[in-house]
Amino acid sequence: KQHSSSSIHVASATSNVTRELADIDWDNLGFGFMPTDYMYVMKCSQGENFSEGQLQRFGNIELSPSAGILNYGQGLFEGLKAYRKHDGNILLFRPEENALRLRMGAERMCMPSPTVDQFVEAVRDTVLANEKWIPPPGKGSMYIRPLLMGSGAVLGLAPAPEYTFLIYVSPVGNYFKEGLAPINLVVETEMHRATPGGTGGVKTIGNYAPVLKAQSAAKAKGYSDVLYLDSVHKRYLEEVSSCNVFVVKGNVITTPAITGTILPGITRKSIIDVARSQGFQVEERMVTVDELLDADEVFCTGTAVVISPVGSITYVGKRVSYGSSGVGLVSQQLYSALTRLQMGLTEDTMDWILEL
Ligand code: COI
Repeated sequence: KQHSSSSIHVASATSNVTRELADIDWDNLGFGFMPTDYMYVMKCSQGENFSEGQLQRFGNIELSPSAGILNYGQGLFEGLKAYRKHDGNILLFRPEENALRLRMGAERMCMPSPTVDQFVEAVRDTVLANEKWIPPPGKGSMYIRPLLMGSGAVLGLAPAPEYTFLIYVSPVGNYFKEGLAPINLVVETEMHRATPGGTGGVKTIGNYAPVLKAQSAAKAKGYSDVLYLDSVHKRYLEEVSSCNVFVVKGNVITTPAITGTILPGITRKSIIDVARSQGFQVEERMVTVDELLDADEVFCTGTAVVISPVGSITYVGKRVSYGSSGVGLVSQQLYSALTRLQMGLTEDTMDWILEL
């Protein structure tokens, strides 16, 4: 349901006194875009630094048809979430990690980037201005989508003359239509997500449209998503279209190492630390597709998906199933530890939570 703009006021960036909730069906949130009230915009010229941005009413933006992002894909995005705690306070999960990843990607894509402080302040302001769109505890979260783009006009291939950093937000529930139930993946054997020396390790927009073809074909056959293999040997696991992958065998949890073709997920990194703190042995290394055959559990991690248990994986027509009786114990245990931390239900011993 669209909101009426007349009933809205801006929450102060330094207080969280707005307790009003938007009038939407909070019980049925999926992972779909819902327009909210404000977005954050900050611009700078090539060769300069971002200095000051502002909140504006959410709406369409104007771009030259010749903008670098539209013509040559000079763009990055980020994803993070805000949760509403039971006491009403708003929590962000490791926002400075997103800022650092954006800065790393900007360097790869020849773009200026906001400082970590500018990024975190902009996220804070945007979340507080849209506070009424943060779901009540237990109903979901607010997904925060920062964009960094070459917004200036170019014709010959070159870095754009002007850049825009923008943040918009949308309330979300579960990413997969399966909710928290195990998803069914198919291993893609023809197409690849990333190549050595390419941009698979940064969150550039150009990494995402190329997976749509395999993803659509997989969905048409009833799978939830696609698991990619490396493009050189075609036998090592990389990641799923929108999330990282982990394989559990006994007390050992394995995930593909960050070698330049894997997106360095913040949930991935956090789960590695949480699992180690719970006594698991975590290995970051090359993982062969054959290791899926005798795994006890497989799960995916990402900001959007959080932790998604995998129920089955199909590879060249052979299907291997996990956890015949539902979500695997390790996936369940890690999901619970991570989400309780993100929602402020357990003590933040890692210092990962920023309370607004
Ligand atoms: C996220 O998990 O936040 C992502 O950026 C993945 C996106 C395709 C939804």
